[in-house]
Amino acid sequence: MILVSKKGVFITFEGGEGSGKSTQSRLLANRLVLDGFDVVLTREPGGTDGAERIRDLVLTGSADKWGALTEALLYLAARSDHWERVIKPAIDAGKVVISDRFHDSSIIYQGHVKGVPTDFLDFVYKIITGGVVPDRTYLIVTDPQIGLQRSINNHNNKETRFEQMGVEFHRLVLNNFLKLAKQNDRFAVIDGSRSISSIQNDILMDFGQIFVEIV
Ligand code: ADP
Ligand code: TYD
Repeated sequence: MILVSKKGVFITFEGGEGSGKSTQSRLLANRLVLDGFDVVLTREPGGTDGAERIRDLVLTGSADKWGALTEALLYLAARSDHWERVIKPAIDAGKVVISDRFHDSSIIYQGHVKGVPTDFLDFVYKIITGGVVPDRTYLIVTDPQIGLQRSINNHNNKETRFEQMGVEFHRLVLNNFLKLAKQNDRFAVIDGSRSISSIQNDILMDFGQIFVEIV
């Protein structure tokens, strides 16, 4: 693949817990590095020292530890630090930035599912980023029951706050992600129920097709 973009490329992965985002974002990053690109692989919440501390606040403890608005403000605070210190400088330097979750997660979890006005979330987002949006977003669609089970099996930590919210909560998350993807051309919807390598092939094929155009 030949991709020599004058500006950086910003890719995000979205989807439910255990859908395969971390696996696929890592595989895409590895592949692009092998192809000679300068890649920054990062994640939300997190990606900077300060944002990782906020991650610990939002992902540990009981499900009702934070109200929806407080939780939204914490995610936005983490995003602001992440944007300012990691994502924006990397895009400006012409790198490929791959983020495992980003603002669409706030729109779905805090906005559509927990009721924080999405206008407010987008207003703050625009102040943070100046309105820059990802060039491509891979929505990995995996049955929430399977995804939750994968996450639980995979558990080596105490980040269980969202897993405690139950399968109905996660079905609502997935349905809202699918609606958002339909309204927005930047999404590619990927069937996450298949093998890791077939999912990876789909993503690589899509990536090749999309980014040849912006060279
Ligand atoms: P997410 O980042 O969406 O929570 P991960 O990529 O961390 O998901 O995957 C969760 C678990 O499921 C990991 O143990 C991973 O190895 C496994 N996994 C990921 N993709 C698949 C797949 N397509 N089929 C089976 N297991 C998978
Ligand atoms: P993550 O570590 O990606 O979880 P997983 O790998 O299990 O999918 O994300 C942690 C949780 O944070 C996840 O349940 C979704 C939630 N989240 C929000 O609610 N809002 C946000 O803005 C972000 C970035 C994540």
